Amino acid sequence: MAPMALTLILGWWLVAASRAEHLPRPSLSLHPSQGVSLVDNVTLRCHLPRPAARVMLYQDKCWRTEKEKEKGQTTVEFSFPNTKWTDLGVYQCQYRVLDPPGTSEQSDPVELLVTDHSYPPPGISLSPEEHVEMGTNVTIQCWNYGYQGTIFLHRDGHSAPVQCQDPDGVSTATFTLFGVTPADAGNYRCSYRPGGSYFQFSPLGDNVTLKVTPGPAHPGGTEQLHGNMLAAVAGGCAATLVFILILILFFLLSARRRRMWTDESHGAPRMPEAVQLQVPPSDSESLTYVELQAEPPSTRLPAPPASPQPSVIYAQVRTGGAR
Ligand SMILES: *[C@@H]1O[C@H](CO)[C@@H](O)[C@H](O)[C@H]1NC(C)=O
Ligand SMILES: *[C@@H]1O[C@H](CO)[C@@H](O)[C@H](O)[C@H]1NC(C)=O
Ligand SMILES: *[C@@H]1O[C@H](CO)[C@@H](O)[C@H](O)[C@H]1NC(C)=O
Repeated sequence: MAPMALTLILGWWLVAASRAEHLPRPSLSLHPSQGVSLVDNVTLRCHLPRPAARVMLYQDKCWRTEKEKEKGQTTVEFSFPNTKWTDLGVYQCQYRVLDPPGTSEQSDPVELLVTDHSYPPPGISLSPEEHVEMGTNVTIQCWNYGYQGTIFLHRDGHSAPVQCQDPDGVSTATFTLFGVTPADAGNYRCSYRPGGSYFQFSPLGDNVTLKVTPGPAHPGGTEQLHGNMLAAVAGGCAATLVFILILILFFLLSARRRRMWTDESHGAPRMPEAVQLQVPPSDSESLTYVELQAEPPSTRLPAPPASPQPSVIYAQVRTGGAR
């Protein structure tokens, strides 16, 4: 009974979990993505992975506005025709569907910042330079001439910075791309937010171009892939094993409980004796009555302990003995 209930609960939970996962998160992009100045016309686009009814926009985690989605639209635009200080911040979007009712998770955050051209663009260097083999660790260094604050690494084609760092004192950030693959190839640049200012950006610096050759000299790469697959398979097997173990444990526990029950009834014949002592010997009728009632559990040994009657009798017998 208990394992069946467990299985039912587990099944229900799995179904509920897969339902909740059926609302993939949207993505938010900023246009133009870089070099925005105050009073510029800036547009935030929320890209929907599936039909939705309503799209909400959050600024610094707080609801800012929302829009009804028109039929056939896969993106919903929120425009700031005249960007003001109060528009600057971190944005996320989210959508709601009606059938079945649900709300997606929020998109990854996108920062709306303005570029202050009075700051010099940061310097950048790439090591090793340009052509590298797959699996190599690549470092990109950026420096901002003592303005401190935070240094951001941008990749062309990505609206948000891909990495950021607070270089304490030294004003140089070192970004490492571990074990690069051809997917990491592209143009990288830096910018910085000077110390003490929050939504102001320096202009973007020069770009460095990373090219990754998928040469054969990268046994680490395939080994790692192989390792990942092995780990995934092992993980799946382990999960199944744990589930089976839990089921077995449940069966063993309930079986043990049943055996303890029957053991108790086995030791029962001693009890009627105690009762016999308690019962006044003159009342022979009562004595017979007690014995008859106590007998059934020992004679019905193999039967499952379904009838609650014997346990009531034992309890009565025990309290009688204690007094
Ligand atoms: C701002 O840009 C959006 C998207 O490019 C455009 O639809 C809108 O008309 C622009 N608004 C102004 C005032 O230029
Ligand atoms: C890349 O960096 C990681 C972590 O520091 C290190 O374990 C690995 O050996 C490095 N790989 C190469 C090819 O240098
Ligand atoms: C990257 O910089 C080089 C010069 O260093 C320039 O020729 C090239 O056009 C730049 N690429 C982009 C996408 O801006």
